[in-house]
Amino acid sequence: MGKSAIQMRFTMRSHGCGDLRADHAGHDVQLCGWVDRRRDHGGVIFIDLRDRSGTVQITVDPDLGAAAFAVAEHLRNETVIQVEGTVRERPADAINDKLTTGRVEVLASAITVLNSVKGVLPFAVSVHDEENTREELRLRHRYLDLRRARMARNLQLRHATVRAIRGYLEGEGFLEVETPVLTRSTPEGARDYLVPSRVCGGEWFALPQSPQLFKQLLMVGGIERYYQIARCFRDEDLRADRQPEFTQLDMEMSFLDQEQILALNEGLIAAIWQQVKGVELPLPFPRLTWHEAMERYGTDRPDTRYGLELVTVSDIVAGMGFKVFSGAVAAGGAVKVIAVPGGNDAISNVRIKPGGDVFSEAQKAGAGGLAFIRVREGGEIDTIGAIKDNLSEAQKAELLARTNAQPGTLLLFGAGDTATVNKALDRVRQFLARELGLVPAERDNSSWNFLWVVDFPMFEFNADENRLEALHHPFCAPNVADLGSEADQWAERLPTARAQAYDLVLNGLELGGGSLRIHDSALQRQVLQTIGLPTEEAEAQFGFLMEALDLGAPPHGGIAFGLDRMVMLLAGEESIRDTIAFPKTQQARCLLTQAPAGVSPKQLQELHVASTWEEAEATAGR
Ligand code: AMO
Repeated sequence: MGKSAIQMRFTMRSHGCGDLRADHAGHDVQLCGWVDRRRDHGGVIFIDLRDRSGTVQITVDPDLGAAAFAVAEHLRNETVIQVEGTVRERPADAINDKLTTGRVEVLASAITVLNSVKGVLPFAVSVHDEENTREELRLRHRYLDLRRARMARNLQLRHATVRAIRGYLEGEGFLEVETPVLTRSTPEGARDYLVPSRVCGGEWFALPQSPQLFKQLLMVGGIERYYQIARCFRDEDLRADRQPEFTQLDMEMSFLDQEQILALNEGLIAAIWQQVKGVELPLPFPRLTWHEAMERYGTDRPDTRYGLELVTVSDIVAGMGFKVFSGAVAAGGAVKVIAVPGGNDAISNVRIKPGGDVFSEAQKAGAGGLAFIRVREGGEIDTIGAIKDNLSEAQKAELLARTNAQPGTLLLFGAGDTATVNKALDRVRQFLARELGLVPAERDNSSWNFLWVVDFPMFEFNADENRLEALHHPFCAPNVADLGSEADQWAERLPTARAQAYDLVLNGLELGGGSLRIHDSALQRQVLQTIGLPTEEAEAQFGFLMEALDLGAPPHGGIAFGLDRMVMLLAGEESIRDTIAFPKTQQARCLLTQAPAGVSPKQLQELHVASTWEEAEATAGR
């Protein structure tokens, strides 16, 4: 052994464990890494030694290295060691084709323990146990989890993605600029994370929900093409594809129209997929207007890998005696259908009726139930309850023709206000696609259904607050044709105008979104007024933007992609937590550092902050 760990020079590592191949046979090597596992084979000890590059088998034979053998006998998993030895080819019957290093082994002459494992390992790091570890444990000891192949692969893929992004954008003349993290609130629709100011008592910074306003100001500042791998903070309800702190690839461009921006971004996405996955994506990506997406899929981020599209039949059923249908249409709502080919065999009545799994999907989206028709041979139909008795031959024929129903098809109906029908049938559609095996496995990685959704409305109605709110954010430029050229028409025309806004959807997930921006202060003021922001408040919050718009703002627009989501899809993972080194839980907690945590009364005092939080409140809330 000789040297102590402290004296050890890390430059004495000659190769990565995973780099060794048959043509290294005969070479003397020095390796450093972690003991993945150790097997004692009656006299000879085998160690799987792991570092970032992979794993290689170390063979310790007492006859060839007595001192090394003495160390190897006591090695526990995850001990950090340095090994000196000679590479040799494995005998034919010992070749392991599953390992890239499986044709060789390193015959150890010396082993130095660089650091031992003192406590009990909370879980086995070794790849052999990877799937069975609870996520809480993985997050609590993330540094152990990061040693595993899956997380190492995901972080490397994330790195490769960012490298491809930088390469492409720099080639297109983009400048990377950092924007502040301590800033004012940026309205992206979530709650802000706030930071109290010690120096300016009683005042608060907000962490950016996105760099939206700064990137617009960079355009006023003449940067012309900006990008940033930007950290964003949103205090919102978390899901598998949402984190309170996440990363955007954020971009903004001057003097480009929507077509040019979309084309440039298609080039960017194609470059990423080409470099990271070796996949050539067909360009241009298909497009749907927001209106058509809602009509055909009930959502603005449809998964187009499968059919099961929604078909509107309001006009056919409007006059029929079945009140659930005709009543919905009379009240200004809609009746829509999902036609499920082969659904008669695949989906039983029990599953569609109250208590069934298909029913419960619709119910979770606010629907009262799902009416249905089963199409039999010869165009006969089976229904339950009042539909059949109230459907004329002509209506039936039209219904079957419009839904393209064949014998064996199940027709599932949603009826009610349009938003609820869309929400319910979108949910049912996704559920059925999974149930019927129409969705390629996440890890399949072969179907990449990109889709631009364009022509979003500027606003949607917020019934709780009884006001319009911006669908994206209030800086999106309206469609010029909808707005008209006269400023005195704006107030009247804005509420129903389309925005020059676009989202990029991939396999049913919103990957990114952006728009052209307003570069005229009068129009910006009008939009803020339309969303019900009193003039004084608008000036207080956004006066600096309006001032900048009046001092030579170029026409500009941009987009932001969710980097974590992009990497999740590239990696075939189902949660963005698996693409982030240190993610937070659904409760927005870091299990490793136990943040958020209490602070001392002194700190609070310095920050001029008093907490209203009561222990009783905490317990009651649980
Ligand atoms: P938007 O709010 O649509 O647009 O965000 C852009 C993209 O960021 C990702 N994303 C998230 N990823 C993980 N966790 C979250 N909580 C989260 N929220 C959003 C999504 C989304 O498509 N400033 C505008 C962009 C612009 O107009 O240029 C913006 O932030 O993939």
